[in-house]
Formats: sequence, C-alpha cells, structure tokens
Amino acid sequence: MLSNQMDFENRIVAPEYEEMDRENELSLRPKTLDEYIGQTKAKENMAVYIEAAKRRGEALDHVLLYGPPGLGKTTLSEIIANEMGVSFRITSGPAIERPGDLAALLTNLNENDILFIDEIHRMNRSVEEVLYPAMEDYALDIIVGKGPSARSIRVDLPHFTLIGATTRAGQLSAPLRDRFGVVERLELYSPAELCKIVERSAGILNIEVEHEGAMELARRSRGTPRIANRFLKRIRDFAQVIGNGVITREIAAESLSRLEVDELGLDAIDRRILMMMIKNYNGGPVGLETLAAATGEEAVTIEDVYEPYLMQIGFLTRTPRGRCATALAYAHLGMMMPEQPMGECEQMRIGE
Ligand code: ADE
Repeated sequence: MLSNQMDFENRIVAPEYEEMDRENELSLRPKTLDEYIGQTKAKENMAVYIEAAKRRGEALDHVLLYGPPGLGKTTLSEIIANEMGVSFRITSGPAIERPGDLAALLTNLNENDILFIDEIHRMNRSVEEVLYPAMEDYALDIIVGKGPSARSIRVDLPHFTLIGATTRAGQLSAPLRDRFGVVERLELYSPAELCKIVERSAGILNIEVEHEGAMELARRSRGTPRIANRFLKRIRDFAQVIGNGVITREIAAESLSRLEVDELGLDAIDRRILMMMIKNYNGGPVGLETLAAATGEEAVTIEDVYEPYLMQIGFLTRTPRGRCATALAYAHLGMMMPEQPMGECEQMRIGE
C-alpha cells in the first residue's frame, strides 16, 4: 500500500507546485492585469497602487500576498513588475540561507525593481533581520571586523519593492508583517472564474473544449487554477483516446472519475479526512492535531491544503474546540447525521 506521503505526492489535486506545472505555468501565465482572471479585489487595489507609484515615479510600496497555494501569487507578482515596467527577481524563503545571500540579492537590484520572496514565512530569523532596514530605510547594516574593533557600516540600497508570498500569514513575525504597506489576501476562485481560465488556457494550448466541458472541469478543480490547468492536460489525453479529441462534459466527468476526483473535486484524502471525523469523532469537534494523527497527514497540510476548500464548499467548519463536519459533508458521503446532540458542532448546526 502507498504511504500517505506518497499519496500526497501523487495527488493530482495537490495545489502545490509540481515539476510538471512548469511548462503549463510558463506558457499560460497572463502578462497583464487585464488578462488576469478573478481576484477582483486584489487586482483592482493593485491597479490603483501601481498607477499612483508610476505617476510619482517611485517604487511601489512593499506587498504581502497570502492565501492557499496554487492561486497565482507568483503570477500576480510578475504582472505587477510588468505593469510597473521594472525587473522581477525571484527567490524563496528557504533558498536564502544566510544574511549574505540576501545582501547579495539586494545590492544587485536596480531602482524600483521588484524582489519576490516566495514562502517568506520560511525565511530564517537572521536573514529576516537584514530585511528590516532594507524595507524601511533602503539600507543594509553590515558589521565589519570582529571583537572590540567591530563596527557597523550602513550601505544604501536602491529603492526597491519587496513582494512576499505566503500560505501562512499568521506565521510571519509582527515586525516583518508590519513593514508591508499593502497586504492582499487571494481567495479561492469560483467555478465561473475557473471556467474562463480553462477556456483561455485551452485556446493557448490548442485544445478543443466545449463550454460545458470546461465548466465540469472547473467545478472539480477546488477553486485552484493550477489544478484546473493540470486537469486540462490530463483530460485532453482522455479526449483523444476515448473520445474524438474534444473535451465535452461527459469526457471531463468520465476522465476525472477515473482520476478518483469526485463531482466536487474531492479526492480520496479529502474523503478520508471527512470520514474519520464522522466515523471516529461523531462529526467533531475534533482538534487539528488529533485529526492529523488519526489520518496520518501533517497538521499544516490539513490546514493549508485540504481545509480551505472543504470550508469553501461548506463541508467543514472551525470552532474554538476543533473542526466539525457539516450536514452537507454527511449528505455528500451518504452518511446519516447522528440523532444525539453533539455539543458545539450540533449547536452550530442548529444556528445555521
Ligand atoms: N492562469 C492561472 N491563473 C490565472 C488567472 N488568474 N487568470 C488567467 N489565467 C490564469
């Protein structure tokens, strides 16, 4: 039997970036805000800040983008650089090992350039401390020498923009979070938005897709463009082999069922989590750590990857005492709700 870890790595609905996404994302990435579908609030706000910064001839204020994986944080950041007409440098929190690595990146920037740090919550503390004066005063404080003769010299940096991306805004330290002038949360996409993205991607990749086919795929992509684009390529294979090359609603549904993705985009792991809550914990409330131990998934994975979508479709709620499976989850899995009152989850349902 596959271990849970392997299940996760092979999971076609995994929203994390996989090597196979590289080609997809490079060719499909929109280049301008107009081409970027969805995230209306973040997009409209960014358009204003970009326009204002351009008119003043200044660097854009530092931006923090947060939200579940696969929603286009990197894509939006590249668009921001493109719209500002500046260079885009990309790195990630874990890739910057020492303060000197960050200093090298910063001193190589030009005026108004954008430095993008993905997974910024994983940056280590000594590196983070270099960022504070860099973000606030566009300066680096470098310690020269050792012992009693050590002194600090200040090196000026170009006025740059830091764009930080994270799935876990809550894990950023307060001093770092406070240095971002703009903080935008990216939301899961609606099926209608994902349908537009699928139709756009199909056009670029020369894949024939009927509107109903794109909609079926969109409905099962758990609010995530990365998953929708991945499905599009897999379903194209099915359409060529079991159909006439066109992605119809039937072909999309049949292909995704074969990939064990159900009508709402849930896969075997989502169902296992919900079933565990229902069968072993009477629907909840069950604490995150308990649920993680019982299902063999990491608590952070449950929180970042599975829960956002299960919450969006109303299958799971969070209460102060733990997670609860809702009536909708029971119905979807064909389970009966227990008759007995169940404490907090039950009270919450009555109030629904
Ligand atoms: N491809 C991935 N995300 C997208 C988006 N938000 N808009 C258009 N195409 C995309």
